Amino acid sequence: MKHNPIIVALDVESAAEARALVERLGGRVDFYKVGLELYAAAGMDFARELMAGGKMVFLDLKLYDIPETVKRAVAQVARMGVRFLTVHAVGQAMRAAVEGRAGSDLKLLAVTVLTSFGPEDLEEQGIRGTAAELVERRARKAVEVGMDGVVASPLEAAAVRRAAGAQAIVVTPGVRSAGAARGDQKRVATPAEAVRNGADYVVMGRQITRAADPAAEAARVLEEIAGA
Ligand code: C5P
Repeated sequence: MKHNPIIVALDVESAAEARALVERLGGRVDFYKVGLELYAAAGMDFARELMAGGKMVFLDLKLYDIPETVKRAVAQVARMGVRFLTVHAVGQAMRAAVEGRAGSDLKLLAVTVLTSFGPEDLEEQGIRGTAAELVERRARKAVEVGMDGVVASPLEAAAVRRAAGAQAIVVTPGVRSAGAARGDQKRVATPAEAVRNGADYVVMGRQITRAADPAAEAARVLEEIAGA
């Protein structure tokens, strides 16, 4: 693997906290995920600050709205220089997103099926079939409409890679090194397994952000992946 595959999830409540983490990680990590919490707290100002400091930003907004709204929101994000943005893997929203980012370097990632959804949740939404089938179908659809990649659980990474093809960007959260605390993540794989299963990037939160020495922990994970 030539590039640094670690994206650190800045799941914190303020720009000050996020800034401190980024500083502690120094040159070890250059790609950060800004999710809904930090986005609500510090918004695009903080994303801009990261980019001004030479960092890449993965904006995890999981967009899902009427086409015009999605298209215009994506156009705004694309203009800012954000690297990755998530959109729910629903045809209408994805097509609008692809239109909205036209002419920019923004890469659009499809969120297929939230990993918090069990069979009852799918049934409640009137969806037939298993989550695994739905993930594959949506991953295929995402690439077909012009999305650049897919967010997948590391356990589904191989299937998603097959469905989405070699060109697709596969990003997996829910990874933990052997022995690391799992927190609320149940179906996890190690970063090395995720990469072996076809992931281009692994999103890591607590294992790195809550480590006594986040930079050392990131370096250790990189070695683990390189040795895979
Ligand atoms: O701390 P941890 O490594 O579990 O954080 C993982 C990050 O990836 C969090 O930002 C979480 O919201 C996100 N995520 C996830 N599982 C998914 C989708 C996103 O853990 N299925």
